[in-house]
Amino acid sequence: MLRQKINFSVASIGKEEEEAVLRVLRSGWLTTGKETMSFENEFAQKIGAKYALAVNSATSGLMLAYDAVGAKNGYKILTTPYTFASTALAAHHLGARVEYADIEKDSYNISPEEVEKKLEQDSKNGKKIKAIVPVHIAGNVCNMEKLKQIAAYYDVKIIEDAAHAFPSKTKNGFAGTLGDIGVFSFYATKTITTAEGGMIATDNEDFAKRMQIMRLHGIDRPVWDRYTKDKASWEYDVVDAGFKCNLPDILGAIGREQLKKADTFFEKRSRIVELYNKSFESADFLTVPPNEEGNAWHLYLIRIKPEFLTISRNEFASLLQDSGVCISMHFIPHFRMTYFKNEYLLKAEDFPNAEEHFETTISLPLWPDMTDEMAYQVIDSVLSIGKSHHA
Ligand SMILES: Cc1ncc(COP(=O)(O)O)c(C=O)c1O
Repeated sequence: MLRQKINFSVASIGKEEEEAVLRVLRSGWLTTGKETMSFENEFAQKIGAKYALAVNSATSGLMLAYDAVGAKNGYKILTTPYTFASTALAAHHLGARVEYADIEKDSYNISPEEVEKKLEQDSKNGKKIKAIVPVHIAGNVCNMEKLKQIAAYYDVKIIEDAAHAFPSKTKNGFAGTLGDIGVFSFYATKTITTAEGGMIATDNEDFAKRMQIMRLHGIDRPVWDRYTKDKASWEYDVVDAGFKCNLPDILGAIGREQLKKADTFFEKRSRIVELYNKSFESADFLTVPPNEEGNAWHLYLIRIKPEFLTISRNEFASLLQDSGVCISMHFIPHFRMTYFKNEYLLKAEDFPNAEEHFETTISLPLWPDMTDEMAYQVIDSVLSIGKSHHA
């Protein structure tokens, strides 16, 4: 087989996105306006949410969501160490703290049993936790039914970190609409992209109003409605110390085109996943990713089984890179990162499942325009490394 370099992730951008950007550039209105508002409406309709608020990143979206539920100034959110830094940092920017619960033994998602333990402790320690933040890792949806029962019992909110989870869909609806607030990412590698960007979804009017105000400097009204409202755009009040997190129209217009293609992208990623799953069925040295109902397949995470191999995960990963397959690691747990480790005195032994997953996981390339030939090259590399270094 002719070896080519297989990128880890490549955004699928066509002439539709190019034309949309040109349309906005030529319109004379570049920042948040009609395009972004249409993107919000179309996204809300797609996932069945009452309110969708476009933001400049999921990180900003999480910060606004934490603020809306009161997770600031000494209060806490509860999440896992197995997530990107910003799930936690968004809380720190508000003066809030993070409580960590381990992930499940057989998935990368937060363990409801561990959540329950942490909330039980918290209820004896002054009830500081305002929200559980389940992260749907790789697009695989957390056990939301169980988490909702627990959240109701302990009277805390659920903010879904759905950065990986568009369009993950369960029998109860889309991920991101299953808790109180959901936050999506449109970062360059995500399932749809605006280069940088995100969307917050909620059915709660009070939360939506608060997030809308805090998204733009604490201004009491959207000031980009100057063409459609009687009141002039300069007439406004600042009612709180808000942030600057709005999504400009140039990016909103890209988002609208990507949204139209979201189902096709999903089908194309699912096809690559099928090829991977089928080809890895008989490989005893690895486990294919967990797959609950409605996985959006943002990432494909394999776990190697060290007992079947003579090489470590890191050696396996570098042999893959040497063969031309670009890989990634999702995620380095927070207890391995200097800031979180020092701030919370985190220890790996307190999170055995997260540690074990991290020690054995490799993310393989997965993107809509990957060809079968590329997928088979990845498969061939994985299988031949496994065979050459089998214990
Ligand atoms: C789980 C998770 N949450 C939040 C984010 C933050 O997304 P953004 O880059 O849009 O701020 C990411 C980004 O990769 C992520 O993976």
